[in-house]
Amino acid sequence: MLVTVQYVSKQFKKHTAVHPISFSIGKGRCIALLGPNGAGKTTTLQMLAGLLKPTSGTIEFVGNKQIDNRSQIGFLPQHPTFFNWMTAQEFLQFAGELSHVPKKQLAIRLKETLAFVRLEDVRNKKIGGFSGGMKQRLGLAQALLHEPELLILDEPVSALDPTGRRDVLQLLDQLKSNMTILFSTHILHDAEQVCEDILMLKDGRLKWSGTLEGLKKEYNSLAIKLQTKEPINGALDQLDFMEEIEYVDSFTVKVRLKSLANSNQLVQTLIENKRTLAHFELLQDSLEDAFMKVMER
Ligand SMILES: Nc1ncnc2c1ncn2[C@@H]1O[C@H](COP(=O)(O)OP(=O)(O)OP(=O)(O)O)[C@@H](O)[C@H]1O
Ligand SMILES: [Mg+2]
Repeated sequence: MLVTVQYVSKQFKKHTAVHPISFSIGKGRCIALLGPNGAGKTTTLQMLAGLLKPTSGTIEFVGNKQIDNRSQIGFLPQHPTFFNWMTAQEFLQFAGELSHVPKKQLAIRLKETLAFVRLEDVRNKKIGGFSGGMKQRLGLAQALLHEPELLILDEPVSALDPTGRRDVLQLLDQLKSNMTILFSTHILHDAEQVCEDILMLKDGRLKWSGTLEGLKKEYNSLAIKLQTKEPINGALDQLDFMEEIEYVDSFTVKVRLKSLANSNQLVQTLIENKRTLAHFELLQDSLEDAFMKVMER
């Protein structure tokens, strides 16, 4: 484990932006923090980055007794601001000095990070003339300069066009082997591309914390499509292990079970009711469906 978060909450005057939440961040993992507008993503990330003091709870970097963990963290804010009159290189030099990167090391890191985010050719150009995608990559370079153990990015791709989005996600994918990454997004598809762990926030409450695999499993395998040779309509209405029934036509039904263990009972019931099974299929919900269900519960 790299970070454990216990009962962390944030209150802004009367408004509770984040209710007490607990989760942990595994070392070397890539975690996506998902949630709609106002869910509390930025607030949570700022607390983790040490920029905002939690109203309650603790954030602990495992094995580190220091109170200030900021040297281990790289942070890219949701709306990064730059000095437009600076060049990319000047900005990174400035950011590196602010975070106390030793001079010699900074010179090396400047080169490396500029190359990594593919801004080396424009390093002496003024930031004012940069596109949104270039600025975002510069922001990423700034967050990486001091080789942090934990990289926190607040919606790193939300403002980008499809190409810019893909670029940044690819960079994150490359960084995964070197560090732990936590980033927020509205878009499940972004998370799916690079992350193995998911945190879901809604109205300041944690709706899901676990692996992407686990999320898929929990919500996928309970849906079944059945077809029978004789008309099926009504035959399954009385079963107490049924969560949802949708009759598609006279012979076809889609059901959602309370537990997958009930699927044998389902087949048995059909046989007892003199229906001949013609088709049995475990349905794969899309991850999007799983996401919507978790958010709605
Ligand atoms: N400094 C502040 N003072 C008062 N309320 C705040 C402050 N910062 C955030 N909030 C409120 O806390 C809630 C959570 O905000 P937050 O910015 O963390 O959400 P978010 O998930 O990042 O949303 P978005 O997707 O729009 O970026 C919102 O209701 C917001 O209005
Ligand atoms: Mg936000």
